Amino acid sequence: MKTPYAVLSEGLHKRYGEVHALRGLDLAVPEGTVCGLLGPNGAGKTTAVHILSTLRAPDSGTARVAGHDVTADPRAVRRSIALTGQFASVDGDLTGRENLRLFARLQRLRPAAAARRADELLDRFGLAELAGRPARTYSGGQRRRLDLAACLLTDVPVLFLDEPTTGLDPRSRGDIWDAVRELAAGGTTVLLTTQYLEEADRLADDIVVIDHGRVSATGTPEELKAAIGSYVEVVVGDASELAGAAVALGRLTGAQPAVDAERRTVGSACADPTLTLPRVVRELDTAGIGLADVSVRQPTLDEVFLRLTADASEPHPLKDDAEDFPIVMSSRSRDGW
Ligand SMILES: Nc1ncnc2c1ncn2[C@@H]1O[C@H](COP(=O)(O)OP(=O)(O)OP(=O)(O)O)[C@@H](O)[C@H]1O
Ligand SMILES: [Mg+2]
Repeated sequence: MKTPYAVLSEGLHKRYGEVHALRGLDLAVPEGTVCGLLGPNGAGKTTAVHILSTLRAPDSGTARVAGHDVTADPRAVRRSIALTGQFASVDGDLTGRENLRLFARLQRLRPAAAARRADELLDRFGLAELAGRPARTYSGGQRRRLDLAACLLTDVPVLFLDEPTTGLDPRSRGDIWDAVRELAAGGTTVLLTTQYLEEADRLADDIVVIDHGRVSATGTPEELKAAIGSYVEVVVGDASELAGAAVALGRLTGAQPAVDAERRTVGSACADPTLTLPRVVRELDTAGIGLADVSVRQPTLDEVFLRLTADASEPHPLKDDAEDFPIVMSSRSRDGW
């Protein structure tokens, strides 16, 4: 039997003047699954979501959402989807409750049902106490939660969430994750973009990494990790040895090492399954690098992401200057990228 796809796009292209935002984007999201769309800033994620939700037309290529063609039948697509954008769309002059009731009425709920559904969602997203205040007085995270609530007023088969949890505190993020899981369990297809790899790891059945407007990798988090191979990390004794260590490690792995000056660490993905700890130690020893620590382990999702999108920045030739290497700050890589 053919897999039914809730979102299916082929060869989507979109240009904004000189900028090629999408260069042939292919997506296939099976019905009832959660797809995590990841990619560095400017990769084309929001552009893709806008095209799939009919807010923008593609220059070429085709896309079907819930079985309807986005170009030929945008109204049918709109009836089948809900969208929350990267930037909040609620009306600041209306209260939270008024906003939700208005959205619910626009989605054709009767007044009593609209009021009931609005209160349920205000409660669910911890907004009941703020419900009577104009939305412009809400904090960024509170607005974000209101925006999401507005998106969940009625049941739709396909939900687009563009960075749904950016700027939310951990508890609110958890609430959104629960809501997404519940929707998916109920059969809703969710396409979400995120800057948080952990979020994609926890929520998504499949991850699609896009870069420069094209898919650069797809798979489950485990498949993506396995595709990268191992990850080698070296802590040098002195910061002056970082550049030399990066050159030596790059030679061993054939990949572009990342230098974390703060932690005096150089790390690199390695596709070669025969690379062992003793070989790394020997190579660095020969290069005269003083080692404080070495490890060869499975990559984290952050490292997978950095590797898969390594071409996002200009290529860095291997030079004896640590500043020529991408610097990965430890605090950032834990939190996002
Ligand atoms: N209206 C526009 N006019 C001109 N260029 C645009 C426009 N919208 C997007 N772009 C450009 O298209 C590219 C893709 O942008 P897009 O917003 O889709 O990226 P993104 O993956 O969502 O990034 P982010 O992670 O920062 O949200 C970027 O280079 C961006 O500057
Ligand atoms: Mg975006």
